[in-house]
Amino acid sequence: MIRTQVAIVGAGPAGLVLSHLLHLDGIESVVVESRSRAYVEERVRAGVLESGTVDLLREAGVGERLSSEGLVHHGIALRFNGRSKRIDFPELTDGKSVVVYGQQEVVKDLIEARLHARGAIFFEAQDVAVSGIDGDRPTVTFRDVEGRHEEIVCDFVAGCDGFHGICRSLIPAHVLRTFERVYPFSWLGILARTAPVSHELIYANHERGFGLYSARSETISRLYIQCRPDEDLAEWPDERVWDELRIRLEGEDAPDLVPGPVLQKGITPMRSFVAEPMQYGRLFLAGDSAHIVPPTGAKGMNLAIADVRVLARALTRYYATGSSESIDRYSQTCLRRVWKTERFSWWMTSMLHRYDPSSDVDFDDRLQMAELDYVTSSRAAARTLAENYVGLPLEA
Ligand code: APR
Ligand code: PHB
Repeated sequence: MIRTQVAIVGAGPAGLVLSHLLHLDGIESVVVESRSRAYVEERVRAGVLESGTVDLLREAGVGERLSSEGLVHHGIALRFNGRSKRIDFPELTDGKSVVVYGQQEVVKDLIEARLHARGAIFFEAQDVAVSGIDGDRPTVTFRDVEGRHEEIVCDFVAGCDGFHGICRSLIPAHVLRTFERVYPFSWLGILARTAPVSHELIYANHERGFGLYSARSETISRLYIQCRPDEDLAEWPDERVWDELRIRLEGEDAPDLVPGPVLQKGITPMRSFVAEPMQYGRLFLAGDSAHIVPPTGAKGMNLAIADVRVLARALTRYYATGSSESIDRYSQTCLRRVWKTERFSWWMTSMLHRYDPSSDVDFDDRLQMAELDYVTSSRAAARTLAENYVGLPLEA
């Protein structure tokens, strides 16, 4: 039997940042992860860090590689009608910017920091189960990598196990409310070994559908095109992906794409989802286990980290003073940011995708063009986009 203060299910960004922040405040935790270390360190996801996320990681002592290898971006381009219009972040947000640094790099840095501090992470845990969240001694059981039965007895459980995890379903059905929107399109993404040809991200609205040009490093580019939700990857040989990307980004000052070896290719479904409340008894949900945003603003990891910052502070206060006031407000505090981020991600998605690529240009398409024109010509509208993209302020 293992005794700890906080048992954390899931070693994604949410679980790992939580474990690290708790450690800095002298609170013990144990992380239980069903996948292998190599798997979570290689999983390719988005890679745009809000300025508040960057500050938090640096202040927590895990920002060294992020500072040396991350690419600072001072703006993005919105591309429509065959032309790019730039949104300048520092000018619109009192000097803020974002950093492009892959999620799996953040995960690697955190695992390294946890293991260096002798933090306990059980990888390849099987049959993970949580019980007793109604009482004051919840338990997490699992079989470890050697098949041994393990039991963790703790004060609190953090459900950081992503959208397909087990923790959300522990909240009784009569308490849990879920809100969902599924979009009629997905993203087909490639990771390619080719130097970025644009030093800023390009979000393109094209009549054949959305296209996104992004980078990962000085030698790796990340590109996406809107596709059908039921798209068959087998119908997308690399050549066809590059051709379609060229079309989606065509026109005046089009980026001069240089196709390189495709290292990874996949389809990302597009969904908005929120579970309320994010706390039940001694269980707290954080990150993707509680909410999903479509990737059109790269908010997923940032929102996960914002949740666990709130949770770490609330638990620290509880252990320091015995007051449960902050932990009781956890869900309410998080959901304010969650819904604003849901709104922004939904809005970016709505403005940039073709909802029915088979139909003629219609009323909604004309409205999208008006919106893009407005956002890129009105300072007030551009500021709204910029302040959300670099990240709304974290809770004081
Ligand atoms: N037991 C233990 N671990 C589990 C279980 C389980 N039953 N189910 C899932 N997990 C693990 C997954 O293998 C994964 O490593 O939980 C982790 C959840 O991590 P993420 O999915 O990365 O979620 P989160 O930490 O909330 O981070 C959100 O991830 O999905 C992206 O774009 C999203 O950037 C956002 C970020
Ligand atoms: C990415 O680089 O993977 C990326 C960038 C911006 C997004 C989504 C994904 O909005």
